[in-house]
Amino acid sequence: MATETEEIRGIGHSVRRVEDDRFIRGVGNYIDDIHLPGMLHMAILRSPYAHANLKGIDATRAQALPGVIAVVTGELMAQHNLAWMPTLSGDTQAVLVTDKVRFQGQEVAAVVADDPYVARDALELIDVDYDPLDAVTTPQQALEDGAPLIRTDKEGQENNHVYSWETGDKEATDNAFSQADVVVSLDTFYPRSHPAPLETCGCIADISPATGQVTIYMTSQAPHAIRTVFALVAGLPEEKIRIVSPDIGGGFGNKVPVYPGYVVATAASLLLGHPVKWIEDRSENLISTGFARDYHMRGEMALKKDGTMLGLRASLLADEGAFFADAQPSKFKAGLFHIVSGSYDLPATHVSAQGAYTNKAPGGVAYRCSFRVTEASYLIERLVQNAANELGMDPVDIRKKNFIDKEQFPYTSATGFVYDSGDYHGAMDKALGMIGYDELRKEQADARAQGKLYGIGVASFTEVVGAGPAKDYDIIGVKMNDGAELRVHPTGKAILKLSCQTQGQGHETTFAQIVAGELGIQPEHIKVMHGDTDNTPYGLGTYASRSTPTSGAATAMVARRVREKAMKLAAHLLEVAAEDIEYQAGTFSVRGAPDQVKTIQDVAFAAYTNYPEGMEAGLEGVYYYNPPNLTFPFGTYVVSVEVDPDTGVWNVRRMVAVDDCGVRINPMIVEGQITGGLTEGYATAAMQLITFDELGNAIGTNFMDYLIPTAWETPKFELGETVTPSPHHPIGAKGVGESATVGSPAAYVNAVIDALQPLGVKNIDMPLTSAKVWEAIQAAKVS
Ligand code: CDP
Repeated sequence: MATETEEIRGIGHSVRRVEDDRFIRGVGNYIDDIHLPGMLHMAILRSPYAHANLKGIDATRAQALPGVIAVVTGELMAQHNLAWMPTLSGDTQAVLVTDKVRFQGQEVAAVVADDPYVARDALELIDVDYDPLDAVTTPQQALEDGAPLIRTDKEGQENNHVYSWETGDKEATDNAFSQADVVVSLDTFYPRSHPAPLETCGCIADISPATGQVTIYMTSQAPHAIRTVFALVAGLPEEKIRIVSPDIGGGFGNKVPVYPGYVVATAASLLLGHPVKWIEDRSENLISTGFARDYHMRGEMALKKDGTMLGLRASLLADEGAFFADAQPSKFKAGLFHIVSGSYDLPATHVSAQGAYTNKAPGGVAYRCSFRVTEASYLIERLVQNAANELGMDPVDIRKKNFIDKEQFPYTSATGFVYDSGDYHGAMDKALGMIGYDELRKEQADARAQGKLYGIGVASFTEVVGAGPAKDYDIIGVKMNDGAELRVHPTGKAILKLSCQTQGQGHETTFAQIVAGELGIQPEHIKVMHGDTDNTPYGLGTYASRSTPTSGAATAMVARRVREKAMKLAAHLLEVAAEDIEYQAGTFSVRGAPDQVKTIQDVAFAAYTNYPEGMEAGLEGVYYYNPPNLTFPFGTYVVSVEVDPDTGVWNVRRMVAVDDCGVRINPMIVEGQITGGLTEGYATAAMQLITFDELGNAIGTNFMDYLIPTAWETPKFELGETVTPSPHHPIGAKGVGESATVGSPAAYVNAVIDALQPLGVKNIDMPLTSAKVWEAIQAAKVS
């Protein structure tokens, strides 16, 4: 057999992304690229009202339009028991309206036609009789006595309250506050934002009338979970359902939920016996699919005069929209917000949360975020800045004084997380060194002396990713474990099948690198498959940076399982006992006799041609990984900004980001993830917002209003790293995809608030548009 002598490009190599070959040539295979014989097209009619009784639908004119095959209404769906569906948080959501509309953009009816443009045109010919009702557009309004009841469909629901949830030790926290020299507080609103992936959501439902086989091509980040939900909703046998997620043009949490369009297209295909394609346009995506954040937060911190933190309280009011559809572990009503004590050794923490229904789209998705960690990280990092100001301390000093020490890991937080590993001082020192912090403060003093508004913002975040251990983590009862399946072919090439689903993160490259390191096969010889429930092992998919902590671990474990057999085969070939074989630098050799060596190619060939008696042929395995813990990436971001006092425009002068995600599988891909995350964090801090007028009209439903930073606005980032491996992950890796989106908004905002500190400005809620900054400057001048 031919042997491979060059270095194996496993963990730590910046291997170029294999998937980019097809993406940059424009030959990716997205849902809208798929055309099936006899395929029909579906378009959805959406409500112009946020809250209105539905008195009737007359589809006669639409039905008469040439090319229209069918108009689907809630009434028709109800006849098949499909007018409502479960959400990922155990609530129910209307598929097509039967009683009343509850948010602007809600799905009212659908047209199926032989041409996508005809389907769209026919929507205008459907006559809907609405009886408008008062809209509820804030959670505060929703919880007032006498507020219009939104969920009239739910038996026993008498108000708009969704849940109350608390965690942490209230008594211990109250005690801490009673001993405080200083209490600082912050009321802030993390506005509604939207993941806005480049590719909108869509599907092609293809049900064979002959076999009953249901194949749904779908923009889903979690195809296996979706198959299970479909089996439960539609009562279809699970083996007859195949979900295929082909290339996905970005997900960021938006493509986790089940959307009504998927269900209606499936029902239409079932009724009509043809494949049915449904693709949203941009406004539909922004108006009706999973939003993120929309959290009103109050934080209070108790401190001693010397800056020692004693306790933390956080109370939250979540705007859940019309249906409680957050994609999050069942046990935690406020996601993983209770990581709110962040990087600090806080002896007492208490969190209380309430959710309210409003006349807005549902969602609460983990937009590049581990279930509400972004909101938590923002609150604590803004509070720490206020505390530093109140006590006249440098924001670096107060952080360093209260950081969890390196020696304290594994560290149990007051709300019960066990942080696996960390070196917060190390990341901070690295960031300060890179930016030249002392010099920067001098520069600021000089600028201030000249009357300039110059600010420096610091944020030290701790993330929590890798949901999660089966004992605590499930979504609607399904445990959050993930699988990997690996088969090595006779010539030593391999196929790796994953339960997670890439949406652009580069899994086809990085997961192959994990196997490469464990077995000695070059990554380009390992084909990585995902996104097809018939052909990949079960798992809960990709969101909340969980792929590396869960599927990445499963991949390492399955490769090690396969390696055990490979060792036995090598022993057989080298005529020694298996215990005498060692695996090193990608080869199998006799311990103490490194010249007696076999490669994985030799071993793989033997697995099919020359295996010892009593051994099964083949070289493959499967592994389902139940993580023993979550992983806790962290980092420090330092930003300097200058604010124009006359216009409120602020510009980032420098942005240094030091991230620690444990062992980096592919440093280049990690840097790409961080750069993207910092850009999205900047967008949230500076410009993005979906808001609503008092009638519930959504404002921010196109890219003229909902702003995506271009290369022009995006600051230049200077990246640094420290490496603190996770002690429980097989390769020491932690997730990284969302870290920078989680950690960076507070850094930008802290910088602007620091710039305005001489004027006495303590807070501006995001997004810090120039208009808002200018208003704050004017208000400060007046007062
Ligand atoms: O779940 P998702 O893929 O969005 O997030 P992730 O697990 O943080 O991984 C994002 C990308 O970065 C993947 O290609 C990972 O394999 C890669 N990565 C890495 O190379 N090293 C790490 N320590 C973490 C992630």
